[in-house]
Amino acid sequence: MGLNRCHNFHEFRRLAKQRLPSPIFHYIDGAADDELTYKRNTAAFDDVDLVPNVLAGVEDVDMSVTVMGQKLRMPLYCAPTALQRLFHHDGERAVAKAASKFGTMFGVSSLATVSVEEIAEVADTPKMFQFYFHKDRGLNHALLQRAKDAKFDVMALTVDTITGGNRERDLKTGFTSPPKLTPSSIFSFATHPMWAWNFLTKPKFDMPHLSGYVSEGTSLAVSVGDYFSTMLDQSMNWKDAEKLCRDWDGQFALKGIMSVEDAKRAVDIGCTGIMVSNHGGRQLDGSRAPFDQLAEICDAVGDKIDVVCEGGIQRGTHVLKALSVGAKAVSGGRLYLYALAAAGQRGVEKALENFRIEIERDMKLMGVARLDQLSRENLRTH
Ligand code: LAC
Repeated sequence: MGLNRCHNFHEFRRLAKQRLPSPIFHYIDGAADDELTYKRNTAAFDDVDLVPNVLAGVEDVDMSVTVMGQKLRMPLYCAPTALQRLFHHDGERAVAKAASKFGTMFGVSSLATVSVEEIAEVADTPKMFQFYFHKDRGLNHALLQRAKDAKFDVMALTVDTITGGNRERDLKTGFTSPPKLTPSSIFSFATHPMWAWNFLTKPKFDMPHLSGYVSEGTSLAVSVGDYFSTMLDQSMNWKDAEKLCRDWDGQFALKGIMSVEDAKRAVDIGCTGIMVSNHGGRQLDGSRAPFDQLAEICDAVGDKIDVVCEGGIQRGTHVLKALSVGAKAVSGGRLYLYALAAAGQRGVEKALENFRIEIERDMKLMGVARLDQLSRENLRTH
């Protein structure tokens, strides 16, 4: 199956599954415990129906949004995700270039495999840096400073990884970063020779933001769960977040807010955005879906802070439902990662193009020419 046959999320996923060694595919595809939250993140959208209006004159549709001060040509952006070099040899470069073509934002992880400096050179679209709060204060300072010097536009502190989620697929496959050779992984790498060839011959796997600070994160193979549990600072609290927000002194978001109480505190400490997110179901299984939790959070803080609905988005209609409830934009990881694995930059471009076309078609079918015409009036629950 080729890229031009990838009409939706599921087809990219199928292609990624063919192309990737199974430990790597399951690292992207898997979630925590029984993966109930992961499934609910998307299923939540099915419990709400759209009620369209017609005869609205929709020949010119404007789907641009402004979120955390960034003007985006579409209301969906690429959430920061780790280790992209494992999925495609161009890694974060491919995502940065694809997002730039579509005039949307993308995130670069603290655990990225391309540096913020290099990304800044290839992207001319808004850039978000995702921050993990490490025990090593020197590393934290360096991360903040490098993102600042590289002129990143938004800083997002991840707050839902205080310890590693129980990702049983990773335990089963023995997934580590960089990949470790075990009898079963050797078989999987050998049966995906293209991936193995690219992994071994293209620029070496590196985690440039950690170099010089964390040998465990760059050369020794560790699982992501272990990294979270051993390297990140479990004492992180609101005072730390407030200080980071002050030190950054710009657009600042907390990524992984699920309660109204925390959303209000995010406003109090000076954040300009929050991502309502459960980390793609990869941390606390049984946690509520972002879309289910969106209305109460938007009611509480939607007029004071930009609320982003993150996770479970697979369709243009999901985007419109989230915006109807009150989100300013949506974001996701898997929605572009399977495409990255399938075909690098071209793959991510195709995934974003599919979303752009779907959002435009769905806006027309909903009878709205601008996204601010969407509201809860257009929604009904079963
Ligand atoms: C994960 C982290 C690295 O979910 O974001 O695997």
